[in-house]
Amino acid sequence: MDVKIYEYDAVVVGAGLAGLAAAKELTEAGKRTAVITKLHPLRSHSGAAQGGINAALGKDDSTELHEFDTVKGSDYLADQDCVELMCTKAPETIRWAERMGAVFSRDKEGDIAIRPFGGQSQPRACYAKDRTGLTLLQTIYEQAHRAGIEVFDEWYCADLIYKDGKVSGVSAYNIRTSEPAIFNAKVTMFATGGHARAYRFNSNAHANTGDSLSIVARHGLPLEDMEFVQFHPSGLGGSGVLISEAARGEGGRLFNSEGERFMSKYAPNAMELASRDVVSRAIMQEVRDGKGVGKDGQSVNIDLTHLDPQIILTKLPELRELAIAFQGQDMLKEPIHISATAHYSMGGIPTNINCQVRKSPTELVEGFYAAGECSCVSVHGANRLGANSVLEALLFGRHAGENMVKALNEGIELRPASVSDADAMLAEMEKLRTSNGMESVPKLRVELQNGMTKNAGVFRTKESLEEQLALIDDLLKRFNHIRIDDKSKTFNTDLQEAIELGHMLEFSKFIVVGALMREESRGGHFREDFPTRNDEKFLKHTYAYMDKDYNITTEWGDVVLGKFEPKERSY
Ligand code: FUM
Repeated sequence: MDVKIYEYDAVVVGAGLAGLAAAKELTEAGKRTAVITKLHPLRSHSGAAQGGINAALGKDDSTELHEFDTVKGSDYLADQDCVELMCTKAPETIRWAERMGAVFSRDKEGDIAIRPFGGQSQPRACYAKDRTGLTLLQTIYEQAHRAGIEVFDEWYCADLIYKDGKVSGVSAYNIRTSEPAIFNAKVTMFATGGHARAYRFNSNAHANTGDSLSIVARHGLPLEDMEFVQFHPSGLGGSGVLISEAARGEGGRLFNSEGERFMSKYAPNAMELASRDVVSRAIMQEVRDGKGVGKDGQSVNIDLTHLDPQIILTKLPELRELAIAFQGQDMLKEPIHISATAHYSMGGIPTNINCQVRKSPTELVEGFYAAGECSCVSVHGANRLGANSVLEALLFGRHAGENMVKALNEGIELRPASVSDADAMLAEMEKLRTSNGMESVPKLRVELQNGMTKNAGVFRTKESLEEQLALIDDLLKRFNHIRIDDKSKTFNTDLQEAIELGHMLEFSKFIVVGALMREESRGGHFREDFPTRNDEKFLKHTYAYMDKDYNITTEWGDVVLGKFEPKERSY
């Protein structure tokens, strides 16, 4: 097939909140912008965010308190300059979204309603019932569309065009036809979302396979803080489907099989509203102690039956429907079985405060930006506060857009691409599409996911991580012997799933290597063999690099400290 070359000022990969916010800014500034996405934009996982978006709007709240909660929640690993930017711009971001047409829930006075979330000293999560992400995604999509973004949906971005320290676009193929193309651009942005599908029990959409992480890593660029994976306390037992933290924010209580409200042992002040890492570990500890509920004893109960039913019917209607649909449990009448589910990645593609991608802790890549969950601007450090992810995606997506406009206005030039820039993508597609080995992609994927949940989950040890490392190395070898039965070029989802599995195996290795190196416990990373935080040795970001044989080397990067001195956390 011929390789078509498209030329744009900007190419944005990913069409969730971060990608669309950036594309809207670029297009409104008159920059020709292509958005490449493997899904229709309105199917992006941002739409699954339920409970809220943080901004200090309450009368007893302040942006400084928001900053403090974010830094404390991060176990002091967040970069405090980026946290300050995010928290001070949060109220304006809400007004911006509202002016675009986002309909937030209201309180009795008619102001934007705010609800409590975990780890926060004041109620701060603005919301649209329990469909906050969907409301915002629809709004930003409408406005980006109105601005004139060009969307290439059901296109799969397979490679980055990166030479001599500069990115000049991507290669991608049309999932419908396998038609390949080069998207040559002066500036390029990755906003591809999260990667919790590497875990068996997770809250993420099928599409969240972290493709962009290993695409970047294959070019020798680093990934940052990959060991920090957030486990959300309330995934529906069995499936992992999210039951928003809003359920606890509105008053939900956690009980074990003996009817104990067990959070009093782990976080006597904050109780169910401690930060997510604390609550998730508490749940898993109760399960380990044999106090779980459900058929397999792997869940605990969240009880909302003491609440006024109107709270559930008007503020949590989606959650109620999900629990009925997936578990046949009606939260109006009975407790719901939940368990800690892999939810969010604090680490990712490292960027500076302007969303420009880093080549090392101290150097930048020209023309390359990232924002949202795939990136690590490091506002979440070792553990993210609930309702800061929607904020980060929208705010830093827009900020990336503004910075790309600035780079374009300053005259960043197009480095012309050639057809040969698609060679690596075409070779990968052909090799996988024609593979006739004996290994099955779904089977390898399940082995990876089961291993990650068991060995690199809420609790980790040297032994469990080494076991997972050996498993991943074995899976990487077996991946060379897969079989793809569908040899066609039309909607070849077998091919796509094989490419995605390759990415999942590679970035999972970063998670495990980072977790092995970090011989301490901090935020979402809990080493049973090193159960305390060690600021002297590990108040550092992890930068990890992969070579062609999947060997990973690491170095440390500095944390940007600020007005909040690292302290022991208690909730
Ligand atoms: O629980 C939730 O509604 C999820 C929000 C978040 O991850 O920020």
